[in-house]
This record gives sequence, C-alpha cells and structure tokens, in this order.
Amino acid sequence: MAMSDTSDITMEEGEIPSSDDLLRDAIAGLSAYPKTLPTKYLYDAEGSRLFEEICEQPEYYPTRTETALLHAISEDLSEAIDNDAVLVEFGSGASTKTRTLLDAAPQISIYVPIDISQIALDEAANSLNADFPNLNVLPLIADFTAPHTLPEATRNRPHVGFFPDSTIGNFAPEAAVDFLKSALITLGEDVRSILGADLAKEESVLISAYDDAQGVTAAFNLNLLARLNREVGADFDLEAFSHRAIWNAAESRIEMHLVSRKNQTVHLGGKEIAFAVGETIHTENSHKYTYDMLAELAAAAGWRIEKSWISDPYPFAVLLMGAM
Ligand code: AVJ
Repeated sequence: MAMSDTSDITMEEGEIPSSDDLLRDAIAGLSAYPKTLPTKYLYDAEGSRLFEEICEQPEYYPTRTETALLHAISEDLSEAIDNDAVLVEFGSGASTKTRTLLDAAPQISIYVPIDISQIALDEAANSLNADFPNLNVLPLIADFTAPHTLPEATRNRPHVGFFPDSTIGNFAPEAAVDFLKSALITLGEDVRSILGADLAKEESVLISAYDDAQGVTAAFNLNLLARLNREVGADFDLEAFSHRAIWNAAESRIEMHLVSRKNQTVHLGGKEIAFAVGETIHTENSHKYTYDMLAELAAAAGWRIEKSWISDPYPFAVLLMGAM
C-alpha cells in the first residue's frame, strides 16, 4: 500500500512522545519499585498491529461484543445525533467500530479521529475516505487524554464524542474522571458522547482474554521491551521475560505484567537495571468497572447518562451521555 499524503493531518507540537521521553519514562518506571512502564508505549506501529490481531483472537471477547452491541443499537444512537454533526473519537486506532456508527448515521459530516499513531491515522483516513466519500476526515495526531483545540472546520456544528474500545478501562478511577473532563473541554458544552466499556465478569473469562492461546497478547506485551531495544538501545533479552495476566479483584482490574525469568541486569540509557527472578514490570491495567461505578465516574466529570445498553452473555456497556 502506498504511503498517504499526510498534509491534512493536524500535528500538535510537543504532544507526541519522542524517544527522549521514552527513555526518560522507561528509566523512571524501571527504577521504581514495583517496576512499571507507561501503557501508552505499547502502541507503536508493531504494537498497534498486534492489538488488531488480539481483537481477532477467539478468547478476546470485548471487540466482538462491543461491535455487535453497537450494531444492535445503531438506530437508537443515530437518533441522538444531529444533522451535520462532528464525530470526535478519542484514541481512534484503526477506527474499526466507527464504521458501524457512520453507516447508521450518515448525518455525521466530519470525523476527527485523535490518536498518537500517525500510521494508524493515515491508514484509517485512507480507508474511510474510500468508503465514505461524503465524510470529511480530519485526523488529529495528539495524546487524546489531554484537551485539544479541534480543527477550524468543526466550529459551530454539533459535536459527538466517541469513546469505544473500553479505553476508559485503561484509567484508574481518578484518571478516568480527568479524561472525561478533558474530553468535555475538547468537545465544548452542548455535546453528547457515546462510551463503550467492558464490565466486570467471571475471572476465567477475563484471564483467557488477556492471555490467549496463540500468544498474541504475550507478543503485544513483550513488544514493549523490543521497542526499548529498537528505539533507545536497551539490551532486554526477550526470552528472559514472560507475559502474565492477573485479575486484581480489589481494584477490579486485569493487570498485564512482564515477569523476569531469572536474576538479570539490563542496560538502557547508561543505567543498569537489576531484576530478581520472578520480579515483574507492570505494563497495563484494564479496569472492569461495574455499571454503577461508570455512572459515578461520568457524573464526577460532568456527564449525565441519557440511555444505556448492556450486552449478554458477556456484559459490556454502551452509554449515551450528555454534558450536564
Ligand atoms: C485497548 C485498552 C481496550 O484493555 O482490553 C488488550 C488493550 N491489552 N489486550 C484492553 C489490551 C491487552 C485493550 N484496550
């Protein structure tokens, strides 16, 4: 596939993590106890590709479940969207679920996908432009967790926020409230949003979803170490770490860790990082909130729930929210 023309992509300066940020954040996280690495670094080009592959694994139910639910309620969602609306997606990736909404709501005239991956935005914009010729796609390369000024062309139109993929689950409660507040600043006052969130369920179902038999989630997690080797010259031995998914019941979340298989020392940025056998690097949290908890987080951020749907047999919630 040819590289696309990126001239219509808005790039906000200082928003995109550089390799300096990566090195600094990695040293900070690996010097702490317990060790951590920031989740956002999982999504380089290879990580984004692996995430798409995770979504196709039989054990990973969230994507299929959410897509089916969005499909089933798409007419209801469409009724809540005004003419000439601007759809703004936070952490858009490949914009796969957006298609269900765009199919059901042709009154959406502008789509602003926000993501930190330029490649993901390029590919999504190309393929949406081909399939939705009347839609104006205006990608924004930015950290979607911070407030942003939307492109000029979106002024004075009704705005609809879209937070699918259970992205909210990557945030601990306080950070989730901050994110929902910041989205409200980006979107402006008189606005509605559609949020998809995976809900708490049986532990064995959750563990399999985050530790699939094909090892795609393991590869996704280990890619973070491969990335540090590629981009900042670290010397992680990928064979000496393994992927682990655990259910933290107290926090109601799945945690991804990379476990050191032996006592070892790793070098990065002129530092030596010591690992004891069994020591872990915590790389991701996927909170599985209850419906009541989601409602509480939304309210604390200034959103009221207008309508909601929960799927069966794997509980997954879609909320239609309005600014208070
Ligand atoms: C993209 C955050 C929704 O938490 O389920 C999937 C990321 N990590 N498998 C999730 C992920 C491991 C995913 N989200």
